[in-house]
Amino acid sequence: MQLSKAAKRIKPSATLAINELITQRRKQGEEILHMGFGESPFPVHPLVRKALCENAGQKSYLATQGIKPLREQISKFYDKVFNLQYSADQIVVGPGSKVLLFDALVALEGPLFLPAPSWVSYQHQARLLGKEVYHVKTIPEDSYRLTPEAFEQSLQQNTQNPSDQKVLLLNYPCNPTGHSFSAEQLKALAKVARDYNVIVLSDEIYGLVSFKGQEHHSIAEFYPEGTLVTGGLSKDRSLGGFRVGVMLFPEDEQSLLTSICSIGSETWSCVAAPIQYAAIQAYQTTPEILDYIRDCANIHELATRYVYKQIHEAGIRCPPPQGAFYLMPDWNEHQKVLKGMGITTSKELAEQLLKKWNVASLPGSEFGMPVENLCIRIATVDYDGEEALTFFRGNREQAFEKPDEFVKSIAPRLVAACNQIKGFNSLI
Ligand SMILES: Cc1ncc(COP(=O)(O)O)c(C=O)c1O
Repeated sequence: MQLSKAAKRIKPSATLAINELITQRRKQGEEILHMGFGESPFPVHPLVRKALCENAGQKSYLATQGIKPLREQISKFYDKVFNLQYSADQIVVGPGSKVLLFDALVALEGPLFLPAPSWVSYQHQARLLGKEVYHVKTIPEDSYRLTPEAFEQSLQQNTQNPSDQKVLLLNYPCNPTGHSFSAEQLKALAKVARDYNVIVLSDEIYGLVSFKGQEHHSIAEFYPEGTLVTGGLSKDRSLGGFRVGVMLFPEDEQSLLTSICSIGSETWSCVAAPIQYAAIQAYQTTPEILDYIRDCANIHELATRYVYKQIHEAGIRCPPPQGAFYLMPDWNEHQKVLKGMGITTSKELAEQLLKKWNVASLPGSEFGMPVENLCIRIATVDYDGEEALTFFRGNREQAFEKPDEFVKSIAPRLVAACNQIKGFNSLI
């Protein structure tokens, strides 16, 4: 069978591929320290589990946009938690935010601007659609944050007519780097976007996994008319497999919303009915749900800061995290020595860490970085979420007072992974 041109433009996601490889090696009895795949490990909240059981009999197709009671609940949730006001009619619920982002790229005219590094899937989605992708350079000294200056320069270099529509995908807290933006920084980016007719797809799926001292703001606060916000249940409620994502639309963009629903109706139809009813529970703003989200975010913070501290103290360059559960260390200052060890690309670096040190990571090249840039993305979630949550709830104060001890108790594999990375680094 012949593959289409579109199919030839993409390859399987590196994230899923590495996960499969590791599962295989673990089945063969090998101890792999898994810093490759970033799935939030906490258990389904009991109230969500109950709601799902109670709705197991829901078997009909539902409206593509998502059922109204769910959209109403999402509207209340965003108002209470993020202080963002979107009515139920401005919300679409899809099978994960990933597919909603893809559908938005289908629906929106214009090339895609992406900070480098950024999450693996964006560039592949755009390429699948035959869209032009422009990576905007960022620097590790500034935590790989997109600056208004670099953004404007890239817009000027890559577009002929400033008034033509363009799209920017902005993700914060960021996978792969853990950085986020202050309100002021977002305001400055919003100005450039408005001046150059750029629609912002604002991927805020980690918004509630923001660390202390880093209040989450949305660029939609400063650019409501040109921003589509995405989020969902996959990260802060650990429900990736439920496949619930949301997209929030500007008030006057009814035809875009309708278009995205039409794309959905011709492809994925609707989010599974039992899941939509259970999601009403997951979007409650009751203390039970909000405390659960906060506790899980606290554990992510303790674990991620622990790994950062280990890496930083070993003298490895790595931007400090402000949210999510990832870090992006690099060894670019040691290119010569690494060349002597047979490492000239981030892929070779990740391979050597896996083969010789049993640490799984992802090469920076998967995130739009130049192949010879020696950076990797590591995830900080290789521990038992259920045990960690129970232990945290029983030892909250100690966890904050002695964070290293806490992480050592709940995440021995994470501690071992740090030691392995330090072992590798000591050879340099
Ligand atoms: C930055 C980012 N955006 C979107 C997603 C996809 O989330 P969803 O499960 O809602 O499709 C992920 C998941 O890994 C992610 O890391």
